[in-house]
Amino acid sequence: AADWFARQLRESPEAEIARNYLESRHVTLEQAQVNGLGFGPRGSAFVDAMKGLGLREEVLLEAGLIVKREDGTKVPRFRGRLLFPIHDLRSRVVAFSGRILGEGEPKYLNSPETPIFHKGQLLYNLHVAKHGMRKTERAILVEGQFDVLRTSLAGFEEVVAPLGTGLTDDQAELLRRHTGQVILLYDSDEPGLRATFRAGDVLLRHKLRVNVATLPEGEDPDTLVEKKGASALEQALKDSVDVMERKIQILERKGFFGTLPGRRRALDRLLPTIRATADSVTRDFYVGLVSEAAKISRDALERELKEKPALADTGDLSINAPAVIQLPQSIEKWVALLVLEGSPWREAVLAKCKPEELQFPPYRQVVTAVLSNRLEDLETIPARTYEALREEGLSPFTAQEVLDYISSNIEGQPLKEQLRELDRQIVLAKGKEQELLVAKKQAVWNELRKKQPQLFKAGRKGAPGS
Ligand code: UTP
Ligand code: MN
Repeated sequence: AADWFARQLRESPEAEIARNYLESRHVTLEQAQVNGLGFGPRGSAFVDAMKGLGLREEVLLEAGLIVKREDGTKVPRFRGRLLFPIHDLRSRVVAFSGRILGEGEPKYLNSPETPIFHKGQLLYNLHVAKHGMRKTERAILVEGQFDVLRTSLAGFEEVVAPLGTGLTDDQAELLRRHTGQVILLYDSDEPGLRATFRAGDVLLRHKLRVNVATLPEGEDPDTLVEKKGASALEQALKDSVDVMERKIQILERKGFFGTLPGRRRALDRLLPTIRATADSVTRDFYVGLVSEAAKISRDALERELKEKPALADTGDLSINAPAVIQLPQSIEKWVALLVLEGSPWREAVLAKCKPEELQFPPYRQVVTAVLSNRLEDLETIPARTYEALREEGLSPFTAQEVLDYISSNIEGQPLKEQLRELDRQIVLAKGKEQELLVAKKQAVWNELRKKQPQLFKAGRKGAPGS
């Protein structure tokens, strides 16, 4: 199929649009050919040609090269797209990625998962880059196929890209087998940075050294090489800095370190990266960097590292990254119990708390199963939870009491979050500043007590009022 697609790109009149597209991106047909690019035409020519080679339809279906329409007819998967072959480590084509020519969705269409292609377990161009990586002792990780194509043409052999998803652990392990260092060369815009730091944490988990190269505003590796040549890219790679230093640098430029709450937020964004770092020497180096940047002692930092993360770990460096919000498990249990009560309590409690917000998986699964009437789907643990909840019931409380308890608890969450935030800041504060925060904490505490007097009354464990 790869050979046939490549020939279409060279010869077929229908591929004119692809040849023009390549020309517009300043890739010659010769260069495209060296890299195995092809074109997938519309119509039945592909299926006919494959059948002529003795390939059965079932095989083409299983390979994801054709798809079955609802009316039973079979059409090629890649129609009117420029095709990048994806090779396995032994240089065998196992899949394709097809770029649309002109407007439309999706921009890149990949082969589906098949017995010979698992996109999370392969990197684009690894069959070539594994040799380059041995020579240069580094890998360059870029975002997409065109970036690989351009940098390869510019003479870099150690370039790979994930296949349309975030970098996976398997992919990091593949890199680890061939090199000790990875340079991340993604776009320098917000989404590019997010992807950079997410990939960085994955690589650190696999004991790789990670650097980040920074591209001029609005450029990706493709456009940079295209406009300024290979030397500009070589320079960007030379100027690359350690991923933790880069993270701190960006937070600094955004002004995070100027205030105490800012320092706290910066710390929350740096902790996951230290936690991810599996290599002990690198980890120690990072602890030093972060303790200096956030002005926190190494001891206090080590204690922080053992705490539960305060942030959802998304690689996000914006000011308003989402915090981890969590109802106490005892409250989630009361939510589940009210859902089991049926109407009108079910509706009343769901107006306050969505099933997907429940953090404890068995309660979440029980609630979801009850709501969709699919109790038979419950696996062992949620099934046992379900039985236990039914047995326990609300007694001795009324549904109204329980609902009030849940409501006041949910309303108290922002104050509780404020208390947690103050605790997190107190760790970083000194002297007068710390005294002020402690006083503030007392005030918030009093406010919470006024709002939820029943929370502080003695009562049975786990019951409303306790
Ligand atoms: P981009 O959409 O940022 O690529 O996707 P790009 O560099 O601008 O693409 P060109 O240069 O116009 O061709 C980055 C990568 O994400 C994957 C592809 O691997 C792509 O190269 N991707 C993107 C998909 O798999 N599917 C999509 O729909 C879009
Ligand atoms: Mn691009």
